[in-house]
Amino acid sequence: MYLSAVVVLVIFGITAITCQEDLPVTQQCLGCICHASSGCNTTSSCGGDVCGPFRLTWAYWSDSGKPTKNNESPDAPGAYSNCAGDTYCAALSVQGYMQRFQQDCNGDNKIDCDDFALIHKHGGYGCKGTQLPEPFGTQYRECKAIVGGQQQN
Ligand SMILES: *[C@@H]1O[C@H](CO)[C@@H](O)[C@H](O)[C@H]1NC(C)=O
Repeated sequence: MYLSAVVVLVIFGITAITCQEDLPVTQQCLGCICHASSGCNTTSSCGGDVCGPFRLTWAYWSDSGKPTKNNESPDAPGAYSNCAGDTYCAALSVQGYMQRFQQDCNGDNKIDCDDFALIHKHGGYGCKGTQLPEPFGTQYRECKAIVGGQQQN
Protein backbone atom coordinates (compact mmCIF):
# COMPACT_ATOMS: atom_id res chain seq x y z
CA MET A 1 0.00 0.00 0.00
CA TYR A 2 2.75 2.43 0.95
CA LEU A 3 4.79 1.43 -2.08
CA SER A 4 1.80 1.76 -4.35
CA ALA A 5 1.14 5.31 -3.22
CA VAL A 6 4.79 6.26 -3.75
CA VAL A 7 4.84 4.77 -7.24
CA VAL A 8 1.68 6.66 -8.01
CA LEU A 9 3.21 9.92 -6.84
CA VAL A 10 6.20 9.37 -9.08
CA ILE A 11 3.99 8.70 -12.09
CA PHE A 12 1.93 11.81 -11.53
CA GLY A 13 4.90 13.88 -10.51
CA ILE A 14 6.26 13.35 -14.02
CA THR A 15 2.89 14.31 -15.40
CA ALA A 16 2.96 17.51 -13.38
CA ILE A 17 6.33 18.52 -14.80
CA THR A 18 5.34 17.89 -18.40
CA CYS A 19 1.96 19.53 -18.12
CA GLN A 20 1.81 23.25 -17.45
CA GLU A 21 -1.94 23.69 -17.54
CA ASP A 22 -3.78 24.85 -14.47
CA LEU A 23 -5.63 21.69 -13.52
CA PRO A 24 -8.10 21.25 -10.66
CA VAL A 25 -6.85 17.96 -9.18
CA THR A 26 -3.47 17.77 -7.45
CA GLN A 27 -1.04 14.95 -8.18
CA GLN A 28 -1.54 13.58 -4.66
CA CYS A 29 -5.27 13.49 -5.17
CA LEU A 30 -4.99 11.82 -8.58
CA GLY A 31 -2.70 9.25 -7.00
CA CYS A 32 -5.21 8.44 -4.28
CA ILE A 33 -8.15 8.20 -6.68
CA CYS A 34 -6.04 5.89 -8.85
CA HIS A 35 -5.00 3.84 -5.83
CA ALA A 36 -8.55 3.51 -4.53
CA SER A 37 -9.93 2.67 -7.98
CA SER A 38 -7.60 -0.19 -8.87
CA GLY A 39 -4.52 -0.16 -6.64
CA CYS A 40 -3.35 2.03 -9.50
CA ASN A 41 -2.88 -1.05 -11.63
CA THR A 42 -1.49 0.57 -14.73
CA THR A 43 -1.54 -2.69 -16.67
CA SER A 44 -5.23 -3.35 -16.08
CA SER A 45 -7.34 -3.12 -19.21
CA CYS A 46 -11.12 -3.19 -19.67
CA GLY A 47 -13.60 -5.18 -17.62
CA GLY A 48 -17.35 -4.77 -17.56
CA ASP A 49 -18.07 -1.20 -18.58
CA VAL A 50 -14.86 0.30 -17.19
CA CYS A 51 -11.26 0.57 -18.40
CA GLY A 52 -7.86 1.32 -16.98
CA PRO A 53 -6.32 2.25 -13.63
CA PHE A 54 -9.01 4.87 -12.88
CA ARG A 55 -11.81 2.52 -13.98
CA LEU A 56 -13.30 5.05 -16.37
CA THR A 57 -16.62 4.48 -18.11
CA TRP A 58 -17.20 5.61 -21.68
CA ALA A 59 -19.68 8.24 -20.44
CA TYR A 60 -17.16 9.65 -17.96
CA TRP A 61 -14.48 9.82 -20.62
CA SER A 62 -16.91 11.44 -23.05
CA ASP A 63 -18.04 14.04 -20.49
CA SER A 64 -14.40 14.77 -19.68
CA GLY A 65 -13.83 16.11 -23.18
CA LYS A 66 -12.63 12.90 -24.90
CA PRO A 67 -8.88 13.29 -24.46
CA THR A 68 -6.93 10.82 -26.63
CA LYS A 69 -3.58 9.09 -26.62
CA ASN A 70 -1.08 10.07 -29.33
CA ASN A 71 -3.46 12.56 -30.96
CA GLU A 72 -5.82 9.80 -31.95
CA SER A 73 -9.18 10.99 -33.27
CA PRO A 74 -11.77 11.02 -30.45
CA ASP A 75 -14.10 9.27 -32.89
CA ALA A 76 -11.73 6.37 -33.54
CA PRO A 77 -13.14 3.03 -32.28
CA GLY A 78 -10.34 2.53 -29.75
CA ALA A 79 -10.05 6.12 -28.60
CA TYR A 80 -11.82 5.58 -25.27
CA SER A 81 -10.17 2.32 -24.26
CA ASN A 82 -6.73 3.48 -25.42
CA CYS A 83 -7.01 6.65 -23.35
CA ALA A 84 -8.54 5.02 -20.28
CA GLY A 85 -5.85 2.34 -20.35
CA ASP A 86 -3.04 4.88 -20.50
CA THR A 87 -2.16 6.37 -17.12
CA TYR A 88 -1.33 9.81 -18.45
CA CYS A 89 -4.34 10.10 -20.76
CA ALA A 90 -6.67 8.67 -18.11
CA ALA A 91 -5.39 11.26 -15.62
CA LEU A 92 -6.16 13.97 -18.19
CA SER A 93 -9.65 12.57 -18.46
CA VAL A 94 -10.09 12.80 -14.68
CA GLN A 95 -8.86 16.40 -14.78
CA GLY A 96 -11.27 17.25 -17.59
CA TYR A 97 -14.16 15.65 -15.76
CA MET A 98 -13.39 17.49 -12.53
CA GLN A 99 -12.85 20.76 -14.38
CA ARG A 100 -16.38 20.43 -15.66
CA PHE A 101 -18.13 19.08 -12.57
CA GLN A 102 -16.15 20.38 -9.59
CA GLN A 103 -18.47 21.21 -6.72
CA ASP A 104 -18.78 20.95 -2.95
CA CYS A 105 -20.35 17.49 -2.69
CA ASN A 106 -19.97 17.04 1.06
CA GLY A 107 -21.06 20.53 2.10
CA ASP A 108 -17.88 21.56 3.94
CA ASN A 109 -17.61 24.85 2.01
CA LYS A 110 -14.54 23.87 0.05
CA ILE A 111 -13.83 21.87 -3.08
CA ASP A 112 -11.05 19.42 -2.42
CA CYS A 113 -9.98 15.85 -3.01
CA ASP A 114 -12.80 14.44 -0.85
CA ASP A 115 -15.23 16.04 -3.30
CA PHE A 116 -13.28 14.83 -6.34
CA ALA A 117 -13.34 11.28 -4.97
CA LEU A 118 -17.13 11.49 -4.53
CA ILE A 119 -17.54 12.90 -8.03
CA HIS A 120 -15.31 10.16 -9.42
CA LYS A 121 -17.54 7.48 -7.94
CA HIS A 122 -20.98 9.08 -8.14
CA GLY A 123 -20.64 11.34 -11.16
CA GLY A 124 -21.07 15.03 -11.66
CA TYR A 125 -24.82 15.06 -11.13
CA GLY A 126 -25.19 12.80 -8.11
CA CYS A 127 -22.40 13.42 -5.61
CA LYS A 128 -24.20 15.59 -3.08
CA GLY A 129 -24.92 13.92 0.24
CA THR A 130 -23.30 10.63 -0.78
CA GLN A 131 -20.60 8.54 0.86
CA LEU A 132 -17.73 6.77 -0.85
CA PRO A 133 -18.60 3.14 -1.59
CA GLU A 134 -16.38 0.40 -0.15
CA PRO A 135 -13.70 -0.73 -0.66
CA PHE A 136 -12.94 2.50 -2.54
CA GLY A 137 -13.52 4.64 0.57
CA THR A 138 -11.12 2.77 2.83
CA GLN A 139 -8.44 2.68 0.15
CA TYR A 140 -8.88 6.40 -0.51
CA ARG A 141 -8.62 7.38 3.17
CA GLU A 142 -5.55 5.21 3.75
CA CYS A 143 -3.81 6.76 0.76
CA LYS A 144 -4.75 10.28 1.81
CA ALA A 145 -3.33 9.69 5.27
CA ILE A 146 -0.02 8.63 3.72
CA VAL A 147 0.42 11.28 1.06
CA GLY A 148 -0.67 14.06 3.39
CA GLY A 149 -4.17 15.38 3.71
CA GLN A 150 -3.15 19.00 4.30
CA GLN A 151 -2.19 20.31 0.91
CA GLN A 152 -4.37 18.23 -1.36
CA ASN A 153 -7.06 19.95 -3.27
C1 LIG B 1 -3.45 -5.72 -12.85
O1 LIG B 1 -4.42 -6.01 -13.82
C2 LIG B 1 -4.09 -7.12 -14.62
C3 LIG B 1 -5.14 -7.22 -15.73
O2 LIG B 1 -6.44 -7.12 -15.23
C4 LIG B 1 -4.04 -8.37 -13.73
O3 LIG B 1 -3.72 -9.49 -14.51
C5 LIG B 1 -3.00 -8.16 -12.66
O4 LIG B 1 -3.00 -9.23 -11.77
C6 LIG B 1 -3.26 -6.86 -11.91
N1 LIG B 1 -2.12 -6.58 -11.02
C7 LIG B 1 -2.30 -6.34 -9.73
C8 LIG B 1 -1.07 -5.98 -8.98
O5 LIG B 1 -3.39 -6.37 -9.19
